[in-house]
Amino acid sequence: MEITPSPALNLIWGANGSGKTTLLEAVHLLNSAKSFRSSGFKDLVSHQELLFGVSGQLSDREGQVRSIRIQKTEKTSRIEVDSQAVTSAATLATTFPLLLVDPHSFGIVEGGPRIRRSLIDRAVFHVEPDFIAAAKTYLNGLAQRNALLKTRQRSPQLDYWNHEVASSGERVHEARLRCVRFLNEMLATEEVLEQIVGRISLKYRQGWREGSSLLETLERQGVAEWQAGQTLSGPHKAELIIQTQGESLARIASRGQIKAVVIKLMATLCDYIHTRRTIRPILMVDDFGAELDDLMLGLTLKMVRDTGAQAFLTTIHSQLAKKVGADDDALFHVEHGEVSPVL
Ligand SMILES: Nc1ncnc2c1ncn2[C@@H]1O[C@H](COP(=O)(O)OP(=O)(O)O)[C@@H](O)[C@H]1O
Ligand SMILES: [Mg+2]
Repeated sequence: MEITPSPALNLIWGANGSGKTTLLEAVHLLNSAKSFRSSGFKDLVSHQELLFGVSGQLSDREGQVRSIRIQKTEKTSRIEVDSQAVTSAATLATTFPLLLVDPHSFGIVEGGPRIRRSLIDRAVFHVEPDFIAAAKTYLNGLAQRNALLKTRQRSPQLDYWNHEVASSGERVHEARLRCVRFLNEMLATEEVLEQIVGRISLKYRQGWREGSSLLETLERQGVAEWQAGQTLSGPHKAELIIQTQGESLARIASRGQIKAVVIKLMATLCDYIHTRRTIRPILMVDDFGAELDDLMLGLTLKMVRDTGAQAFLTTIHSQLAKKVGADDDALFHVEHGEVSPVL
C-alpha cells in the first residue's frame, strides 16, 4: 500500500481488519525499525513471504526531504537513510519523533510506573542531547553497583560506583523534571480537559528521599539494600502520578476520560518537543473514535489539531469523516490492505 499524507490531519477510515493499524505500523517501522504490535518477524510479513520493506519520505518545514528505507528478512535487517546504510536503529529514531496512542496506551494511566517513566524518557531523549549518555552511564553503573551489593562484602569499588551512579542519576532526574514541569505548566491552564475530568496535574516522585542528594542516599546503603542485593533508590524507582484534584486518576476515571487524558498528554509532549527542539513530532491515534462520545470526540480532535503536528488517526466510523474537512485535512479509506484518498 502507498499513501501521500497531508502535513496536517490524516483520517484513515476502514472496516475492522482492513489494514488501518498496519498503516500506522509502517510509519512506526520507519521511525524505529520496530513494530509496536509485535517483535516477531513472522507476524510482520504476509503468509509465506520471505521479506518485507517499508519506505517513506520525510519533509521538514523547510522542505528538506529525507528518504528512509527498511527491508527485513527473518535474519537480516537493512536500514537506509538517504541511500546510506545505517547500522543503529537509534539513529533512525532521531530523524523524527513519533508519539502513538493505541490500546496499550491505557497503561499510561492504569499500568505500573515503568510505562510512565519510559513515556517521559522517550520525549526527553528528543529534547536533551546528553540524556541518552547519562541514562546509559546510569544503567551501567547501577548494574555494577548491584553486582557488588550481591557479593554482600564491602568493596572499595563501591565508593567509585556510588559517585558514578549518583552523578548520572541526578542528570537523568533533572532532565525528566524539566519535562514534567513543562507538562504541568501546560496542564495548569488546560480548560477543555478540566470540563471532562477536572484539572490534571502530575506529581513526580524522584525515587529517593526528597531533600537528600542521591549520593548521600547511596552512601547510606541501608541493610535492606545489602539484603536485596540491589539498589533500591534512584531515578529507576521514580514514579509519575497522574492526578486530578489530588485523587489518582486511575482510581476515578472512566475509559473515555482516561483516553482523553492520554491524548492530551501526548499532545502536550508534542508541544514540549516542538518548543524545545523546533521540530514537530508525528502524532498517531489508533482507533481514535473508540471509547469516546460525541462531545469527547470533538474535544480530543481539537487537542490533536492544536498541536499543529502531522497526525494519523484511524477509525471504523464513517461518521467521524464528517468531522474532518479543514483545508489541510486528508481523508483516506482502507480496504483489503489498500489505501486510497477519499475525494
Ligand atoms: N497491505 C497488507 N498486505 C497484507 N496483509 C495486510 C495488509 N494490511 C493488513 N494486512 C493484514 O490484515 C490483518 C488486519 O490488519 P489490521 O491493520 O490489524 O486491520 P485494522 O487495524 O484495520 O483492523 C492483519 O493480519 C494484517 O497483517
Ligand atoms: Mg486496528
